[in-house]
Amino acid sequence: MLKLKSLTLKSNVIQSPMAGCTDLAYRILSRRYGMEFAFLEMVSAEALVRGHAGTHELMKTSPEDRPLGAQIVGCRPEAMGEAAAIVEGMGYDLLDINFGCPVPKVAGQGAGSALLAQPEKAEQIFRSVVKAVKRIPVTVKMRLGVADGSGREAARIARIAQDCGLDAITVHGRTRVQGYSGQADYEAIARVREAVSIPLIGNGDVLCGEDAERLRRTAGVDGVMIGRGGLGNPWIFKQIERSLSGDRSPVQEPDLATKKRVLLEHLELELAHREERTVIAHMRRIACWYFKNLPGVAQFRGRINVCQSAVELRHLIESFDGQGPTGTEDVAAAA
Ligand SMILES: Cc1cc2nc3c(=O)[nH]c(=O)nc-3n(C[C@H](O)[C@H](O)[C@H](O)COP(=O)(O)O)c2cc1C
Repeated sequence: MLKLKSLTLKSNVIQSPMAGCTDLAYRILSRRYGMEFAFLEMVSAEALVRGHAGTHELMKTSPEDRPLGAQIVGCRPEAMGEAAAIVEGMGYDLLDINFGCPVPKVAGQGAGSALLAQPEKAEQIFRSVVKAVKRIPVTVKMRLGVADGSGREAARIARIAQDCGLDAITVHGRTRVQGYSGQADYEAIARVREAVSIPLIGNGDVLCGEDAERLRRTAGVDGVMIGRGGLGNPWIFKQIERSLSGDRSPVQEPDLATKKRVLLEHLELELAHREERTVIAHMRRIACWYFKNLPGVAQFRGRINVCQSAVELRHLIESFDGQGPTGTEDVAAAA
């Protein structure tokens, strides 16, 4: 169980926000196979305040898509407060503040992971957001630091967050400079655990129950956040929950027929929520998530890249036999 102010989750395994990945179809599908809580991808606070149409498209949801958190990114305290109030008014269950995004377009403007080095600005943002939000929990998701991987920078920001009244903290065990390279450092996340008493969620490289157990044991986290491990693998949430509850029975990996069935289900959900043209482009990545590491996936990718219709896409998926030449697909690259 994970209790975050007014929000009580039965599961302490949650889905991270992932731009271009955790869309409505992805979330509905993952919920069917065991995910309880998810995030929208991050949205710009400034764009939200301006009422930018593309931002509203990114925030599309449905009644079955609950409980659901939204995440805002930005660096102007006033805009962050205004955006937070808009998010609460739209009916989401939790508001997260992005202190982790490393991409130059975001961090270069002083937002996302750049805020880890600016404690005063961080405090202004936290105060502005907490003041603007009336009911739902407010959380922050951060990296370990800009370049210092010890966890000291994150611990300092975490203490400020706690003093400002935030309800939980998520730490991804890498620095901004690291991007997605190297391994997430759970010992450095433990530094943040020592610094605060509010709920702490650990994140980074959790791909199986053992990873989640190691994260919990090393860093004393209350919850585990899954990012890339959920792509093409909606079963991961239940598997990890089972493992964290002490169940040591062997994990039943889905066979190819099951993966194909669920991928086709994912395709139908995408088609229900977007235009066919957009779905085809998006499915080029999604389909490869499901077949990652299977022989023939590189050939499959080649075929899917020139596919022009949903009918053709269905046929390609149905006829994939996992028998072609061996080649691996990197989910981070494919994401
Ligand atoms: C394609 C992609 C998009 C992401 N988008 C976001 C985002 O919008 N907000 C955020 O806080 N983190 C984002 N992240 C970071 C993930 O949420 C997560 O912290 C990171 O991938 C580490 O967890 P993992 O090893 O389980 O994937 C993104 C990561 C990837 C690979």
